[in-house]
Amino acid sequence: MTPNREAWGSRFGFILAAAGSAVGLGNIWKFPYIAGENGGAAFIFVYLVCIAIIGFPVLISEILIGRTTQRNPVGAFAALTHSKFWISVGFLGVVAGFMILSFYSVIGGWTIGYVVETLRGSLSNFQSPDEAGVLFGKLSGSPTWSLSYHAIFFALTMFIVIRGVEGGIERSSKIMMPVLVSILVILMIRGVTLDGASKGLAFLWVPDWSKITGQAILIALGHAFFTLSLGMGAMLTYGSYMGKRDNVVSASAQIVFLDTLIALMAGVAIFTAVFASGLDPAAGPGLIFQTLPAVFASMTGGVYFSFLFFLLLAIAALTSGISLLEVVVAYFVDERGWDRKGAVLIFGGTIFLIGVPSALSFNLMADVKIFDKTFFDIVDFLASNILLPFGGLMIAIFVGWIWSTTAVRAAVKEGAEQLFDNYPWFERVWFIFLKFVAPILITLVLLNSLGFM
Ligand code: PFF
Repeated sequence: MTPNREAWGSRFGFILAAAGSAVGLGNIWKFPYIAGENGGAAFIFVYLVCIAIIGFPVLISEILIGRTTQRNPVGAFAALTHSKFWISVGFLGVVAGFMILSFYSVIGGWTIGYVVETLRGSLSNFQSPDEAGVLFGKLSGSPTWSLSYHAIFFALTMFIVIRGVEGGIERSSKIMMPVLVSILVILMIRGVTLDGASKGLAFLWVPDWSKITGQAILIALGHAFFTLSLGMGAMLTYGSYMGKRDNVVSASAQIVFLDTLIALMAGVAIFTAVFASGLDPAAGPGLIFQTLPAVFASMTGGVYFSFLFFLLLAIAALTSGISLLEVVVAYFVDERGWDRKGAVLIFGGTIFLIGVPSALSFNLMADVKIFDKTFFDIVDFLASNILLPFGGLMIAIFVGWIWSTTAVRAAVKEGAEQLFDNYPWFERVWFIFLKFVAPILITLVLLNSLGFM
């Protein structure tokens, strides 16, 4: 183990930071719109099953690999196997970190931009989502606007990561996560007290099973990875700063619980407001930037809610962005002997530049398409639909089949001595999911993403 390697200050700090990584644009921007497009309650049910049977077992595995090796994804596999194949799996995680952060920051930038636009009053006069859509087209269509906020998002991310694991990531998460939850509670209360909110609640709770197609199940499963930050070593890296006395299984359960709770709360806040205004819940990716601003504009005091909502999104994006950058930084610090500051500045700068064509995909480069996809869409697709499921598949196979069962058992027991006595079925169930259920289902997701199904 490296002497003086950084570590979390407390277990609570770790939980908040890891929940901060998990809770992001995926929960507040993506989950509500994919649930909206795929029929609401029935989709949410399938999603919850995916989280329980795939997300949770894989999350335990990722954190466990990190905690046991006290290393970044590349160093972790090197410490456990010496096999080139597994080391390259770890390396793919670092590559995925580069890719996801490069485009994540573009949308993260928009959310900061929308906080500023709310304060400037540009969001208060819409009569319809179409008008809000025009403004959204104008803003995201401006290279200067997009690039400036992409840069601001990066500057904030780098500012936090440069301060280190405890002083930067943990400290900022301890402030940002409680603010995030408080804002969400306020927005939820506002949502459910609107006239007509019950239609939104019904949409979320009354299932229409006819909407559950094979495709919807694969979308739910793919999203389970993205939302829990799985498959690229972010949770592995965060786990590597955890002490041996902490219980990995209960920590994972708390992270899954927080991530799921916040996605559902965001769903309630958003759909009650959308239904109360009689707007379309299936508006797709534009739900947040086009439908909601129109909802806020029609509400008394809407400008405050709009400010809070976009601030919520910006915070959620930032706590996830820092975990993406940390994967890359941890690799260069652990394996290449860089100092943290240098690694943040050089690789933060590089990832910012890789993100420039993504920011321009909505304006100057909108017509540059390969296989009918813009640069943004390609990077998003490769990372979210290929690399993350592939990484998740490898982690399940590694812990299920490659790592010796005795070693896995010993690793889980550290910090959770009573677990196997109190829950004798735990190990068997966890292994069945890792060895069989997760590999089969994730392979289906991958085949689907690659167009074979
Ligand atoms: N979990 C984040 C979200 O739901 O927005 C996205 C994410 C963050 C994915 C970090 C992967 C990652 F390593």
